[in-house]
Amino acid sequence: MWSPGTWLWRAAVCCMLLETFLHTARGLNMCMGGSATSCEECLLIHRSCAWCAQEEFGRGRTLNSRCDFSQNLQKRGCEARFIEYPSSSISVLHNMPLSSKGSGWTQNDVVQIQPQKISVSLRPGDQTWFELQVRQVEDYPVDLYYLMDLSLSMKDDLETIRNLGTKLAQEMGKLTSNFRLGFGSFVDKNMSPFSYTATKYQENPCNGYKLFPNCVPTFGFRHILSLTDKVDRFNQEVQKQMVSRNRDAPEGGFDAILQAAVCKEEIGWRKEAYHLLVFATDDVPHLALDGRLGGLVQPHDGECHLNDKNEYSASTQMDYPSLALLGEKLAENNIFLIFAVTKRLYVIYKNFTALIPGTTVEILDTDSKNVIQLIIAAYNNIRSKVELSVWDHPEDISLSFTATCQDGKPLPGLRKCADLKIGDTVSFNVSVEARSCPPRGTDQSFTIKPVGFKDHLQVSVDYQCDCGCSRTAKTNSSICSSIGTYNCGTCHCEPGYLGARCECQEGESGSSFLSACREAEGKQVCSGRGECSCNQCLCYESEFGKIYGSYCECDDFSCARHKGILCSGHGECHCGECKCHAGFIGDNCNCSTETSTCIADDGQMCSGRGSCVCGHCQCTEPGAFGDTCEKCPTCPDACGTKRECIECRLFNSGRLADNQTCQRLCKDEIITVETLDTDDPAAVLCLYKTENDCVMKFTYSEHASGLSILTALKEPECGGGPDALMVLLAVVGSILLVGVVLLAVWKLAITVHDRREFSRFQNARSRARYEMACNPLYKHPVTTHFVETDFDMYGKSYNGGVH
Ligand SMILES: *[C@@H]1O[C@H](CO)[C@@H](O)[C@H](O)[C@H]1NC(C)=O
Ligand SMILES: *[C@@H]1O[C@H](CO)[C@@H](O)[C@H](O)[C@H]1NC(C)=O
Ligand SMILES: *[C@@H]1O[C@H](CO)[C@@H](O)[C@H](O)[C@H]1NC(C)=O
Ligand SMILES: *[C@@H]1O[C@H](CO)[C@@H](O)[C@H](O)[C@H]1NC(C)=O
Ligand SMILES: *[C@@H]1O[C@H](CO)[C@@H](O)[C@H](O)[C@H]1NC(C)=O
Repeated sequence: MWSPGTWLWRAAVCCMLLETFLHTARGLNMCMGGSATSCEECLLIHRSCAWCAQEEFGRGRTLNSRCDFSQNLQKRGCEARFIEYPSSSISVLHNMPLSSKGSGWTQNDVVQIQPQKISVSLRPGDQTWFELQVRQVEDYPVDLYYLMDLSLSMKDDLETIRNLGTKLAQEMGKLTSNFRLGFGSFVDKNMSPFSYTATKYQENPCNGYKLFPNCVPTFGFRHILSLTDKVDRFNQEVQKQMVSRNRDAPEGGFDAILQAAVCKEEIGWRKEAYHLLVFATDDVPHLALDGRLGGLVQPHDGECHLNDKNEYSASTQMDYPSLALLGEKLAENNIFLIFAVTKRLYVIYKNFTALIPGTTVEILDTDSKNVIQLIIAAYNNIRSKVELSVWDHPEDISLSFTATCQDGKPLPGLRKCADLKIGDTVSFNVSVEARSCPPRGTDQSFTIKPVGFKDHLQVSVDYQCDCGCSRTAKTNSSICSSIGTYNCGTCHCEPGYLGARCECQEGESGSSFLSACREAEGKQVCSGRGECSCNQCLCYESEFGKIYGSYCECDDFSCARHKGILCSGHGECHCGECKCHAGFIGDNCNCSTETSTCIADDGQMCSGRGSCVCGHCQCTEPGAFGDTCEKCPTCPDACGTKRECIECRLFNSGRLADNQTCQRLCKDEIITVETLDTDDPAAVLCLYKTENDCVMKFTYSEHASGLSILTALKEPECGGGPDALMVLLAVVGSILLVGVVLLAVWKLAITVHDRREFSRFQNARSRARYEMACNPLYKHPVTTHFVETDFDMYGKSYNGGVH
């Protein structure tokens, strides 16, 4: 809003730092950016904006904005007397000290709130505050009006309170030396359906009622005894009272409360006293709109309507009052209302107290026996609280309260103190702020009043919306080429004329003049950083540097920054863009094109494990770190690179031996040990074979300090390598051994097999012999023949052939 789009974008995107910097340094600021054209407009932008009304101001080589922070205007040469910079202020008009005691002095001088009258002068947006103190003064006069329900059900109560006056005066006498008591009564509207209206009930509504045959006609409200300190009169009057009777359960008590509150003269409320109104009833009240049942459509007008008999005359003409009206009238007359109701009604009346401010509810015994304790309790309750109320609060003024009660702790947002003792002083811090300027000429005032107190604080408000210099505005001023009004340093030209001195005529360039001063449609005139004069932008001067361009769109201080330095110090800012010096690139020139810083000791770019970005290595190899990614215990070639260092540093051998580069490349700390501890998980174990077939072991680890540590064995491990012949012999021997073993196994297997075959054979043989002996079919295969004849021979051979 206060600089060209490009600038805002940059500020938002890349440089929060810059923005805060500019805000605090108050260079380009909301006062200037708002392009206020008059002093009044300027003051409305922000409470810290001021206007310079000096004529010669701002017409130098470059243009100065007349709307700026006051100290900037002064710095730029505006004389202090020409600076319009109003601020909110408070002046106390009446400030009488709080009284300590209520009675015994002239009553009118009792002061319970301090101050009593102040005047605040508010500049919109500029908050100011004042403090007020409230004290519940000891021994403050008390007026108590006893308003009693005289419907039939209150018959026994009436008995009880016949001597109430004396006792109450006694008890109250302990709390105040100045006590007055009054009395009034009510039943209900004397009309159907609220009361009995048949002629036989006109004179005696109890006519025919067996339990209680005599009572007085129904009435709305009757004021019987004005407030007096003669308590005997109270007793006398109460004794004269008789109950009446109405038809429906609810009573017309709210009519009575309203009359008791507003008929100040008749009741005799004193200005300088607490006003207690005790409302004793045993039933619910009629509320607004109930009157319609009896045809009463006129809402209550909130006025006093007592006739010469001290009776409420509008009872049958107006509806019952609403709770809101009741609350308003009670507050207006500083009356604390005490509902003394039977237990059954407690909840209902408790709900009413939430709707009517300044009321309390106490439980009354069915026969009113406890009425005195009840009144004392309610009185003490009322006197233990201070709550501020605001009257006629103007809409465009915001008030916020901070209460400081008896414990001295500020309670923000609270306008109330409770649990006070009489005589305690509490204070309230009230902040006031006007949100806008009201229409010219409206004077506002409001009142702050502790609920129920007559004392109040009157606050009159005037607004700092006009500039003093406007009073001396001159029409047709010569300063404005006699065709404009000179006001607070600027010219307001007649229609058709333009320019700071009304020196141009409109339409000269053909197009409307404003578009000539805007970079594009919708953009601010002169980018909000200059004034349009005769189709040309006159750019403001800035303490940061020059603003220029046909639309004041350029400057050389709002370029990208790095670490707060414009263009990182490696470029020139030109119209919002960094022009980087050679060797630097990037939006804010913070990227060096130099790569020498990325070359590792071994000559490789970033040790071959990363790339060089803006002169810094970005290691890509996992695990690699260090300025040139030279450190990497977990890289696959870690052991390889470190081996060379071990070789050259410890044994003066290897690739780097006899080469100064060893000292340069191997800066690692090398520790030699007898035995290597390989348990360290952070260390990588490396081993390699030396020229003479020994094994060299070392571990490699990176320390948090950035140091690499190589822990190496003092000497390579040479295990006296095995003889080749021995190996051969061992090999041959083992082959032979295997052969022999195989042969032996074969031999054993064969032998076992043979043995097994032989014993099987033996077995079979012995079994065959047995068979020969036992088989009855067996015939010895061998027969002996004696061949003597041919026949014989034939027979024998035949036999044999059969067999
Ligand atoms: C009193 O108000 C409370 C809550 O506001 C409600 O729940 C309750 O019914 C009301 N009691 C009567 C008797 O109106
Ligand atoms: C009153 O409140 C204002 C802010 O709301 C604060 O600046 C001021 O110091 C407070 N005054 C006292 C006396 O506490
Ligand atoms: C100012 O000038 C205009 C015409 O230029 C004229 O009509 C007007 O009366 C003048 N006003 C005063 C106060 O001289
Ligand atoms: C350069 O500046 C940009 C933006 O502020 C930032 O992100 C980047 O890290 C910087 N580069 C270097 C090398 O400082
Ligand atoms: C020293 O080592 C470097 C790098 O390994 C090599 O380029 C150079 O030739 C060596 N010089 C000698 C004398 O060995």
